[in-house]
Amino acid sequence: MLNEKNVQLGKVRSEIRELFEYGKKRKAEIGAENVFDFSLGNPSVPAPPEVKKALEDIIATVDPVVLHGYTSAQGDFNVRKTIADYINLRFKTQLDADCIYMTCGAAASLTITLNALVNAGDEVITFAPFFPEYRVFAEHAGAKLVIVQGEEGTFQIDFDNLARALSPKTKAVIINSPNNPSGVVYGEKTVEKLCRMLEEYGKAHGVKIYLISDEPYRELVFDDSVKAPYIMNFYGRSIVCYSYSKSLSLPGERIGYIAVNNKMEEYADVYAGVCGAGRALGYVCAPNLFQQLIARVYDKTSDISVYKRNRDELCAALKEYGFKVVKPDGAFYLFVASPEPEAKAFCERAKKFELLIVAGDDFGVKGYARISYCVSPQMIKKSLPAFKALAQSYKLCGGEK
Ligand SMILES: Cc1ncc(COP(=O)(O)O)c(C=O)c1O
Repeated sequence: MLNEKNVQLGKVRSEIRELFEYGKKRKAEIGAENVFDFSLGNPSVPAPPEVKKALEDIIATVDPVVLHGYTSAQGDFNVRKTIADYINLRFKTQLDADCIYMTCGAAASLTITLNALVNAGDEVITFAPFFPEYRVFAEHAGAKLVIVQGEEGTFQIDFDNLARALSPKTKAVIINSPNNPSGVVYGEKTVEKLCRMLEEYGKAHGVKIYLISDEPYRELVFDDSVKAPYIMNFYGRSIVCYSYSKSLSLPGERIGYIAVNNKMEEYADVYAGVCGAGRALGYVCAPNLFQQLIARVYDKTSDISVYKRNRDELCAALKEYGFKVVKPDGAFYLFVASPEPEAKAFCERAKKFELLIVAGDDFGVKGYARISYCVSPQMIKKSLPAFKALAQSYKLCGGEK
């Protein structure tokens, strides 16, 4: 008999993928420019020019046998040291190369970290709305994913809900700020309170709770007044799962890292667990060419001003049309309240206006839909009449176009 769980996982496509496939079909029928595809989180701005330059230089100058060869499993030492030094410079930490483990993106960072930490029966808490793959990753590592609903309307952490969810079985808490799908960012007070609560609960119950910060969107914060605090400065048992997929527009290249906080007393064992889990999952090493690239462009980002402009334009228009929008401070997603109780019905209706948006149900929240606005500014402009017509179909705004 096959492993039924995996067979099911392979057969059932996520709602997002279903919609993406529908979009491909629809684009073939009526032309790509007439379908407003807000389904996927695929960056729409190119990687910064430094990426191409560095890649060309690496290929021209590094011995190909070395460049295309294995690195050590946790990643090339110099690459890891460069990243650790950069984190120290930015966040006043004291990491060294042996706190960093190079991965194939945030998904790999998360699966490795969860496999390093959990035993069968452990619980992993996360806050809704959340990235749906957390359930797959946590359950495959043997844990139960416990969902804590965020504060209605703001989707900040609801600490009463968190207090009810903590249990002696809690092994880890995953946060994702800036958040997919809401774009919400947790400020310093929130992070401080969360860390205090985990610290106190852990002490009171004699358990070690790890805080995993899933950070593919760290660099995508648009306003100077908004800061995404670095969790290592607030909590010893913390692990950062980072990725360059979105910040450098390299999602297909699969490159990121895990950073283990060396302020926790069992740091060496946790890092060994990460190395062991990476080994057991068969990762061998992250792609060498892209490790070398990161050592040269670790401090660069794509032109995120495009996403900021998209956000501002789309948010303003949606509000004007009568939609209720959760304020997105980062990432490139926007959570909009469904004008009818079932968000899936709302998204189906949106399709009639060639708008492809994803129901929030998959993200653990009912009554909302996600709009991925990592599209071209022209697409935002062209889609506005369709959003307006959708609003009019619910009588949210007047009939004039
Ligand atoms: C919240 C979140 N975590 C993890 C990932 C996985 O990112 P990566 O492409 O780096 O594996 C994504 C991708 O969209 C995401 O949105």
